[in-house]
Amino acid sequence: MVRLLRELQKRLRTAGLPEGEALDLLALASGLSRKELLLHLPQAPPPGTEEKALTLLERRLGGYPLQYLLGEVEFFGLPLKVAEGVLIPRPETEGLVELALSLPLPHAPRILDVGTGTGAVALALKKHLPEAQVWATDTDPKALALARENARRLGLEVAFLQAPLTGGLKDLDLLVSNPPYLPEAYRAQAPRELAFESPQALYAGREGLDVARPLAQEARQALKPGGFLLLELAPENVGLLARELEARGWIDVEVLRDLAGRDRYLRARRPA
Ligand SMILES: C[S@@+](CC[C@H](N)C(=O)[O-])C[C@H]1O[C@@H](n2cnc3c(N)ncnc32)[C@H](O)[C@@H]1O
Repeated sequence: MVRLLRELQKRLRTAGLPEGEALDLLALASGLSRKELLLHLPQAPPPGTEEKALTLLERRLGGYPLQYLLGEVEFFGLPLKVAEGVLIPRPETEGLVELALSLPLPHAPRILDVGTGTGAVALALKKHLPEAQVWATDTDPKALALARENARRLGLEVAFLQAPLTGGLKDLDLLVSNPPYLPEAYRAQAPRELAFESPQALYAGREGLDVARPLAQEARQALKPGGFLLLELAPENVGLLARELEARGWIDVEVLRDLAGRDRYLRARRPA
Protein backbone atom coordinates (compact mmCIF):
# COMPACT_ATOMS: atom_id res chain seq x y z
CA MET A 1 0.00 0.00 0.00
CA VAL A 2 3.04 2.29 0.35
CA ARG A 3 3.16 2.84 -3.43
CA LEU A 4 -0.54 3.78 -3.50
CA LEU A 5 -0.09 6.12 -0.53
CA ARG A 6 2.84 7.87 -2.23
CA GLU A 7 0.79 8.26 -5.43
CA LEU A 8 -2.10 9.84 -3.52
CA GLN A 9 0.26 12.15 -1.63
CA LYS A 10 1.91 13.29 -4.85
CA ARG A 11 -1.36 14.04 -6.61
CA LEU A 12 -2.76 15.94 -3.62
CA ARG A 13 0.46 17.96 -3.29
CA THR A 14 0.46 18.81 -7.00
CA ALA A 15 -3.12 20.08 -6.67
CA GLY A 16 -2.12 22.28 -3.70
CA LEU A 17 -4.01 20.14 -1.15
CA PRO A 18 -2.50 18.84 2.13
CA GLU A 19 -0.77 15.52 1.43
CA GLY A 20 -1.76 14.32 4.91
CA GLU A 21 -5.24 13.75 3.45
CA ALA A 22 -3.79 10.76 1.55
CA LEU A 23 -3.95 8.64 4.71
CA ASP A 24 -7.61 9.56 5.21
CA LEU A 25 -8.50 8.68 1.62
CA LEU A 26 -6.60 5.38 1.80
CA ALA A 27 -8.16 4.47 5.14
CA LEU A 28 -11.63 5.15 3.73
CA ALA A 29 -10.93 3.18 0.54
CA SER A 30 -9.48 0.17 2.38
CA GLY A 31 -12.09 0.08 5.13
CA LEU A 32 -9.32 0.30 7.76
CA SER A 33 -8.97 2.88 10.53
CA ARG A 34 -5.98 5.23 10.19
CA LYS A 35 -4.23 3.28 12.95
CA GLU A 36 -4.87 -0.13 11.29
CA LEU A 37 -3.77 1.32 7.98
CA LEU A 38 -0.39 2.37 9.38
CA LEU A 39 0.15 -1.19 10.66
CA HIS A 40 -0.87 -2.73 7.30
CA LEU A 41 1.05 -0.28 5.09
CA PRO A 42 3.81 -2.73 4.12
CA GLN A 43 1.16 -5.25 2.89
CA ALA A 44 -0.81 -5.38 -0.37
CA PRO A 45 -4.08 -3.36 -0.18
CA PRO A 46 -7.40 -5.20 0.28
CA PRO A 47 -9.06 -5.98 -3.09
CA GLY A 48 -10.68 -2.94 -4.76
CA THR A 49 -8.79 -0.44 -2.59
CA GLU A 50 -6.81 1.17 -5.41
CA GLU A 51 -9.87 1.77 -7.58
CA LYS A 52 -11.87 3.20 -4.65
CA ALA A 53 -8.95 5.40 -3.53
CA LEU A 54 -8.52 6.87 -7.00
CA THR A 55 -12.26 7.60 -7.26
CA LEU A 56 -12.16 9.36 -3.88
CA LEU A 57 -9.07 11.28 -4.96
CA GLU A 58 -10.80 12.52 -8.12
CA ARG A 59 -13.74 13.80 -6.05
CA ARG A 60 -11.36 15.52 -3.67
CA LEU A 61 -9.42 17.10 -6.53
CA GLY A 62 -12.78 18.36 -7.83
CA GLY A 63 -13.17 20.35 -4.59
CA TYR A 64 -15.45 17.93 -2.68
CA PRO A 65 -14.71 18.51 1.04
CA LEU A 66 -12.71 15.76 2.78
CA GLN A 67 -15.07 15.93 5.78
CA TYR A 68 -18.06 14.98 3.60
CA LEU A 69 -16.10 12.04 2.17
CA LEU A 70 -15.25 10.88 5.70
CA GLY A 71 -18.78 11.62 6.99
CA GLU A 72 -17.47 12.74 10.38
CA VAL A 73 -15.54 15.60 11.99
CA GLU A 74 -14.24 16.26 15.46
CA PHE A 75 -15.59 19.41 17.06
CA PHE A 76 -14.52 20.48 20.54
CA GLY A 77 -13.56 16.84 21.20
CA LEU A 78 -16.92 15.46 20.02
CA PRO A 79 -17.22 13.18 16.98
CA LEU A 80 -19.99 14.66 14.82
CA LYS A 81 -21.61 13.24 11.71
CA VAL A 82 -21.61 15.59 8.73
CA ALA A 83 -23.43 15.35 5.41
CA GLU A 84 -23.46 17.30 2.18
CA GLY A 85 -25.60 20.42 2.39
CA VAL A 86 -25.11 20.90 6.15
CA LEU A 87 -22.31 23.22 7.26
CA ILE A 88 -19.08 21.51 8.33
CA PRO A 89 -18.23 22.87 11.81
CA ARG A 90 -15.12 25.06 11.66
CA PRO A 91 -12.26 25.54 14.15
CA GLU A 92 -13.23 29.25 14.62
CA THR A 93 -16.53 28.05 16.06
CA GLU A 94 -14.65 26.12 18.76
CA GLY A 95 -13.51 29.61 19.83
CA LEU A 96 -17.17 30.61 20.14
CA VAL A 97 -17.78 27.63 22.47
CA GLU A 98 -14.72 28.57 24.55
CA LEU A 99 -16.04 32.11 24.94
CA ALA A 100 -19.46 30.78 25.97
CA LEU A 101 -17.88 28.52 28.59
CA SER A 102 -15.91 31.47 30.01
CA LEU A 103 -19.06 33.52 30.75
CA PRO A 104 -20.31 34.03 34.33
CA LEU A 105 -23.52 32.02 33.78
CA PRO A 106 -25.86 30.90 36.58
CA HIS A 107 -25.69 27.29 37.82
CA ALA A 108 -28.33 25.81 35.49
CA PRO A 109 -28.34 28.28 32.61
CA ARG A 110 -30.97 28.44 29.87
CA ILE A 111 -29.06 28.43 26.58
CA LEU A 112 -30.14 28.72 22.95
CA ASP A 113 -27.97 27.98 19.89
CA VAL A 114 -29.47 29.63 16.80
CA GLY A 115 -28.69 28.04 13.41
CA THR A 116 -27.37 24.82 14.91
CA GLY A 117 -26.39 22.94 11.71
CA THR A 118 -24.89 19.61 12.87
CA GLY A 119 -25.71 20.64 16.47
CA ALA A 120 -22.01 21.41 17.07
CA VAL A 121 -22.28 24.40 19.44
CA ALA A 122 -25.37 23.19 21.34
CA LEU A 123 -23.89 19.72 21.88
CA ALA A 124 -20.46 21.00 22.96
CA LEU A 125 -22.14 23.34 25.48
CA LYS A 126 -24.41 20.60 26.85
CA LYS A 127 -21.39 18.29 27.19
CA HIS A 128 -19.46 20.86 29.24
CA LEU A 129 -22.43 22.34 31.13
CA PRO A 130 -24.48 19.19 31.86
CA GLU A 131 -26.84 21.05 34.19
CA ALA A 132 -27.77 23.57 31.46
CA GLN A 133 -31.08 23.49 29.60
CA VAL A 134 -30.10 23.75 25.95
CA TRP A 135 -32.30 24.52 22.96
CA ALA A 136 -31.23 24.83 19.34
CA THR A 137 -33.05 26.15 16.28
CA ASP A 138 -32.52 25.82 12.55
CA THR A 139 -34.73 26.42 9.54
CA ASP A 140 -33.20 23.53 7.56
CA PRO A 141 -34.84 20.14 8.26
CA LYS A 142 -31.77 18.29 6.95
CA ALA A 143 -29.54 20.06 9.48
CA LEU A 144 -31.98 19.31 12.30
CA ALA A 145 -32.18 15.60 11.41
CA LEU A 146 -28.39 15.41 11.52
CA ALA A 147 -28.21 17.40 14.78
CA ARG A 148 -30.75 15.07 16.41
CA GLU A 149 -28.78 12.05 15.24
CA ASN A 150 -25.56 13.52 16.66
CA ALA A 151 -27.30 14.18 19.99
CA ARG A 152 -28.59 10.59 20.08
CA ARG A 153 -25.16 9.12 19.30
CA LEU A 154 -23.50 11.25 21.97
CA GLY A 155 -26.26 10.75 24.56
CA LEU A 156 -26.68 14.51 25.03
CA GLU A 157 -30.06 16.11 25.68
CA VAL A 158 -30.75 19.18 23.56
CA ALA A 159 -34.21 20.33 22.39
CA PHE A 160 -33.99 20.92 18.63
CA LEU A 161 -36.68 23.12 17.08
CA GLN A 162 -37.39 23.76 13.43
CA ALA A 163 -37.91 27.51 13.69
CA PRO A 164 -36.37 30.77 12.50
CA LEU A 165 -34.08 32.72 14.83
CA THR A 166 -35.07 32.39 18.52
CA GLY A 167 -38.19 30.28 17.89
CA GLY A 168 -40.03 32.49 20.42
CA LEU A 169 -38.02 31.23 23.40
CA LYS A 170 -37.79 33.52 26.43
CA ASP A 171 -35.84 33.98 29.68
CA LEU A 172 -32.51 32.85 28.25
CA ASP A 173 -29.21 33.37 30.03
CA LEU A 174 -27.23 32.93 26.82
CA LEU A 175 -28.09 33.18 23.15
CA VAL A 176 -25.18 31.91 21.08
CA SER A 177 -25.04 31.71 17.31
CA ASN A 178 -22.79 31.16 14.34
CA PRO A 179 -25.33 32.47 11.81
CA PRO A 180 -24.79 32.70 8.05
CA TYR A 181 -22.61 35.80 7.85
CA LEU A 182 -20.72 35.98 4.58
CA PRO A 183 -21.36 39.10 2.49
CA GLU A 184 -23.01 38.11 -0.81
CA ALA A 185 -20.06 39.51 -2.82
CA TYR A 186 -17.81 36.80 -1.32
CA ARG A 187 -19.65 34.13 -3.35
CA ALA A 188 -17.71 34.99 -6.54
CA GLN A 189 -14.33 34.42 -4.85
CA ALA A 190 -15.30 31.58 -2.48
CA PRO A 191 -13.13 28.43 -2.42
CA ARG A 192 -14.64 25.52 -4.44
CA GLU A 193 -15.38 23.53 -1.27
CA LEU A 194 -18.07 26.03 -0.20
CA ALA A 195 -20.21 25.12 -3.22
CA PHE A 196 -21.06 21.79 -1.49
CA GLU A 197 -22.45 23.47 1.64
CA SER A 198 -25.88 25.09 1.74
CA PRO A 199 -25.88 28.77 0.60
CA GLN A 200 -28.48 29.45 3.37
CA ALA A 201 -25.83 28.38 5.88
CA LEU A 202 -23.21 30.75 4.47
CA TYR A 203 -24.49 33.93 2.87
CA ALA A 204 -26.57 36.68 4.44
CA GLY A 205 -27.14 39.58 2.05
CA ARG A 206 -24.99 42.55 1.05
CA GLU A 207 -23.33 43.12 4.43
CA GLY A 208 -23.67 39.54 5.66
CA LEU A 209 -25.97 40.72 8.46
CA ASP A 210 -29.39 39.71 7.09
CA VAL A 211 -29.71 36.98 9.73
CA ALA A 212 -27.57 38.39 12.57
CA ARG A 213 -29.31 41.80 12.62
CA PRO A 214 -32.90 40.50 13.08
CA LEU A 215 -31.50 37.89 15.47
CA ALA A 216 -30.01 40.61 17.68
CA GLN A 217 -33.37 42.39 17.61
CA GLU A 218 -35.24 39.25 18.76
CA ALA A 219 -32.53 38.53 21.32
CA ARG A 220 -33.62 41.64 23.20
CA GLN A 221 -36.91 39.87 24.07
CA ALA A 222 -35.49 36.34 24.32
CA LEU A 223 -32.75 37.07 26.87
CA LYS A 224 -33.19 37.79 30.57
CA PRO A 225 -31.99 41.26 31.61
CA GLY A 226 -28.19 40.91 31.85
CA GLY A 227 -28.28 37.80 29.62
CA PHE A 228 -25.49 37.31 27.09
CA LEU A 229 -25.59 37.50 23.31
CA LEU A 230 -22.59 35.81 21.72
CA LEU A 231 -22.17 35.76 17.94
CA GLU A 232 -19.57 34.58 15.45
CA LEU A 233 -19.41 36.99 12.51
CA ALA A 234 -17.05 38.05 9.71
CA PRO A 235 -14.19 40.48 10.27
CA GLU A 236 -15.96 42.74 7.72
CA ASN A 237 -19.22 43.06 9.66
CA VAL A 238 -18.66 42.27 13.35
CA GLY A 239 -17.66 45.87 14.20
CA LEU A 240 -20.65 47.25 12.32
CA LEU A 241 -23.16 45.18 14.32
CA ALA A 242 -21.31 45.94 17.56
CA ARG A 243 -21.76 49.69 16.96
CA GLU A 244 -25.45 49.18 16.14
CA LEU A 245 -26.00 47.26 19.40
CA GLU A 246 -24.23 49.93 21.42
CA ALA A 247 -26.40 52.60 19.82
CA ARG A 248 -29.49 50.59 20.89
CA GLY A 249 -28.39 50.46 24.51
CA TRP A 250 -26.85 46.97 24.78
CA ILE A 251 -24.21 46.88 27.49
CA ASP A 252 -20.65 45.47 27.72
CA VAL A 253 -20.49 45.30 23.91
CA GLU A 254 -17.17 43.83 22.83
CA VAL A 255 -15.56 42.55 19.63
CA LEU A 256 -13.16 39.66 20.23
CA ARG A 257 -10.53 38.07 18.01
CA ASP A 258 -10.08 34.51 16.76
CA LEU A 259 -6.81 32.57 16.97
CA ALA A 260 -5.67 34.08 13.68
CA GLY A 261 -6.04 37.57 15.21
CA ARG A 262 -9.12 38.53 13.13
CA ASP A 263 -12.08 40.36 14.63
CA ARG A 264 -14.60 37.54 14.80
CA TYR A 265 -16.89 37.39 17.84
CA LEU A 266 -19.40 39.83 19.31
CA ARG A 267 -20.30 39.63 22.98
CA ALA A 268 -22.96 41.85 24.52
CA ARG A 269 -25.41 41.91 27.45
CA ARG A 270 -29.06 42.78 27.38
CA PRO A 271 -29.76 45.89 29.44
CA ALA A 272 -32.23 45.64 32.33
C1 LIG B 1 -22.99 29.05 9.51
S1 LIG B 1 -24.12 27.73 9.75
C2 LIG B 1 -23.71 27.28 11.41
C3 LIG B 1 -23.95 25.83 11.76
C4 LIG B 1 -23.43 25.42 13.13
N1 LIG B 1 -23.93 26.27 14.19
C5 LIG B 1 -21.92 25.45 13.15
O1 LIG B 1 -21.35 26.40 13.70
O2 LIG B 1 -21.31 24.53 12.61
C6 LIG B 1 -25.66 28.60 9.91
C7 LIG B 1 -26.90 27.76 10.14
O3 LIG B 1 -27.99 28.66 10.32
C8 LIG B 1 -29.13 28.13 9.69
N2 LIG B 1 -30.04 29.28 9.40
C9 LIG B 1 -30.02 30.13 8.34
N3 LIG B 1 -30.96 31.08 8.50
C10 LIG B 1 -31.58 30.82 9.70
C11 LIG B 1 -32.64 31.44 10.43
N4 LIG B 1 -33.25 32.55 9.98
N5 LIG B 1 -33.02 30.90 11.61
C12 LIG B 1 -32.40 29.79 12.10
N6 LIG B 1 -31.40 29.16 11.45
C13 LIG B 1 -30.99 29.67 10.27
C14 LIG B 1 -28.60 27.41 8.46
O4 LIG B 1 -29.51 26.43 8.01
C15 LIG B 1 -27.29 26.81 9.01
O5 LIG B 1 -27.49 25.52 9.52
